[in-house]
Amino acid sequence: MAHKLKVAPSIIAGDHARLGEEVRAIEVAGADILHLDIMDGHFVPNITFGPKVVEDLRKVSGLCFDCHLMLEKPCSMIVEFCRAGADRVSVHVEAKEPRRALELIKAQGKLGGIAISPETDVALLDEFLEVADFFVVMTVHPGFYGQSMIVEALDKVPIIKEKLKRLCRDCPVQVDGGVSPKNVELVARAMADEVVAGASVFGASDYRTAIEALRG
Ligand code: DX5
Ligand code: ZN
Repeated sequence: MAHKLKVAPSIIAGDHARLGEEVRAIEVAGADILHLDIMDGHFVPNITFGPKVVEDLRKVSGLCFDCHLMLEKPCSMIVEFCRAGADRVSVHVEAKEPRRALELIKAQGKLGGIAISPETDVALLDEFLEVADFFVVMTVHPGFYGQSMIVEALDKVPIIKEKLKRLCRDCPVQVDGGVSPKNVELVARAMADEVVAGASVFGASDYRTAIEALRG
C-alpha cells in the first residue's frame, strides 16, 4: 500500500429515514470527511436532497462536509449549499460554467473542487489545475451508489498528481465510485489522497471496521 487514504463515507448509501444518526455513526467510527451527493435529475437521472438536509445535518456533526454537486447548473445553488454548512464543494467539469462555479465557491470562503466523469478526457482539467482546491476522479458513472468500479478511470489520478506536482501544487485527489476493500490497494497505488465510499461502508454491519479496511 502506497500511503494512508482519507475515507469519506457517502451518506447517499445510508438510511435516509435516520440521516442524522447515520452521520453521527460514521463520525464516531472514524470517518475523515462526510461526502454528500447532490443530484438534480438532469445532470444525472437520480435525485437526492437539497440544502435543508445539509443544514440540518450540520447541527449534528463536526465532520468536514464535502458536497459533490451533480447538477447541470451548479452556479444557481452554490451559495445555498455553502450557507447550509458545506466546507468543500465540487462541481463537474461537464456541467455548465464550472469556472464561474469555482469562483462562487471560493467567494463563500469554501474549498472548490472539480469532478470528472469516467468517460471525460482528463485534459479538460488542465485549465483548473492552478485554481481548484481539490479534484474528484469518478470511477463510476455518476448517479447511483453500489456500482462496480471502472478501474481504467483510475489512470487519471497519477496524471493529475504529476501535473499538479509540476505546478508545485499539492491538492488532494479524491476517488469516487465503487471503492471497496478489494480494490482500495489499486486506488492507493494510483496515488489518490481520499476515497469516497457509499455501499462499502453503509452496507457493512460495523462502520469502524469498514472504514479502517479502506485506509490501507
Ligand atoms: C455516484 C456518487 C458516489 C457514489 C458512492 O454518483 O457520486 O459518491 O454514490 O457510492 P459507492 O461507493 O457505493 O459507489
Ligand atoms: Zn460522489
